[in-house]
Amino acid sequence: MTTAQLMAVDGQTTERECENLFLMAREVPAGQAIVEVGVFRGRSLCSLALGAQPRVQVFGIDVWRSEGDYAYACRALEDMCVAHRVILWPTTSASAASRWQGPIGLLHLDAAHDSESVHAEIEEWLPHCAPGAVIMVHDYGATFPGVVWAVERERRLCTWSGFGVRGTHAMLWVPT
Ligand SMILES: C[S@@+](CC[C@H](N)C(=O)[O-])C[C@H]1O[C@@H](n2cnc3c(N)ncnc32)[C@H](O)[C@@H]1O
Repeated sequence: MTTAQLMAVDGQTTERECENLFLMAREVPAGQAIVEVGVFRGRSLCSLALGAQPRVQVFGIDVWRSEGDYAYACRALEDMCVAHRVILWPTTSASAASRWQGPIGLLHLDAAHDSESVHAEIEEWLPHCAPGAVIMVHDYGATFPGVVWAVERERRLCTWSGFGVRGTHAMLWVPT
């Protein structure tokens, strides 16, 4: 699979961000899940699925208000030969988090971008994250002050074993 093929999938994630997602997905150990909230047409989800190790299940959660976007994402996963690795869950972030079972090793948040929603998502998903898991929050930067506000609030409220920024991804490490 080439970078050009991946970037041909419609999406709002840059090539460098996709590469970062791919590399972070590779680190998730067998038995833990990779979860993306905010799939849209599937570009970032394909990056995660391409990087995931064989016994790591990948989940994509989105409300998909447009059926066309859902169908497009399904086709993109097939075209990238990763459909068998991915479970798509058409629901809200809050609903998925409330029913979630099992440890998450990597959580990619790219759904709503207002401060209250991002804060709520981190709070709702954090209890499902395994020790050492990473929460990646997309669009951490001047264009989305709500995302920055929510991430900074989390940094003050919770104890993290690490924090970093790569491109527009803020990354929070859950303590081991
Ligand atoms: C910025 S796009 C995601 C872009 C995608 N990650 C990519 O690589 O192109 C945001 C997506 O989040 C979804 N979304 C927004 N709020 C949501 C919520 N509360 N629960 C689930 N999905 C949501 C929207 O339907 C939209 O498809």
